[in-house]
Amino acid sequence: MVGNLLDPRTSIVRRHGMSFRTNSKGLKLDPQELLKAFGGLDVHQLEKLADQSVVDAAQFNRDMVVAIAQAAALLETTDFSFRKPLDGKIVVTAFFEASTRTRLSFESAVLRLDGKILSVPDGQVTGVKKGESLSDIGEMLNTYGDAVVMRHPETNSVDEISQNLTAPLINAGNGSGQHPTQALLDWYALLKWRPMLASDTCPDKSRIHLGVVGTPGSMRAVNSFVQLALLFDSAIKRITVVSEMADPLGAKLSDSTADCDIEIEVTNDIKDVLPALDVIYMNSIAFLGDDYKTLDSRYKLDMESKLKPEAVIMHPLARRNELDSALDNTVHNLYFAQAAGAVFVRQALLTAVLARTGALADALTSR
Ligand code: CP
Repeated sequence: MVGNLLDPRTSIVRRHGMSFRTNSKGLKLDPQELLKAFGGLDVHQLEKLADQSVVDAAQFNRDMVVAIAQAAALLETTDFSFRKPLDGKIVVTAFFEASTRTRLSFESAVLRLDGKILSVPDGQVTGVKKGESLSDIGEMLNTYGDAVVMRHPETNSVDEISQNLTAPLINAGNGSGQHPTQALLDWYALLKWRPMLASDTCPDKSRIHLGVVGTPGSMRAVNSFVQLALLFDSAIKRITVVSEMADPLGAKLSDSTADCDIEIEVTNDIKDVLPALDVIYMNSIAFLGDDYKTLDSRYKLDMESKLKPEAVIMHPLARRNELDSALDNTVHNLYFAQAAGAVFVRQALLTAVLARTGALADALTSR
């Protein structure tokens, strides 16, 4: 059954002579553990992102994911605000679909680095209401901001706005397509939990059996997470996808898995596999057609679930009743730490995309 209950009372953690604010419930991860496990930050990996769009998890390699995680860990443990790294930059957050975490954590990331925000929290307040095309909106945004963070219910929205947008585009979720920055923060949480996962020589006892409860082919966050998981083949011994669908991976991810050394299996029965899993990534909400649908909602985790004592549960959130809130105060809860790390990952990414890595590089590499 479930592991120990945690004390939920403090969200300020003090370790190694430093304090940092963290999630109020669930596992409290120490960014210093990740920093101690690696050598210096590979600033070159961040510089490669300058002026680039971030639209698909498949564009990242493992070194880049690790560099973003390291930069996020440094940002989480260091007060850089006096350096004003995004001073003079304007980021447009254009959200044509609902969001709690993604928009607010991007905006928090910009504001904490002294950038400015033009926020569209609801696409219906734009010319879309009058029938304006996304490609025309892209043309306008070129002169209004230095980067655009967009969420949209249509999978082809990235292609459409990119017809005219020349500023870097960060895809914050496009229909059933991709959610690459969610995957980066997922891996930030996992690497803080077990830094050894990034090692080429991950010892066998640290290698994980990863369970994915959901349908990656229809769920953008799950899709992007699995796409990045394929980069960590030395750390993952097996991926089990638990789904109601016969072909849950979809065509693109199936192609990616075909080239990968990780053993991948699909089942529709969670009970048999659950006791073997080290990490369970779950989701049930998919934006399909023109509305939110729940898929795989018969798979539920609660206090009766037969979890390994040290197993961790990940979830991009929002959740419905597939993940019982009774698990929030247990050692299995990695999902609040995922969400809490979002600001630092997005700070690292924006600093790199807006070509301001140099503003942090001295401080990032000299610690
Ligand atoms: N994880 C995630 O994308 O959450 P929001 O929908 O609240 O942005």
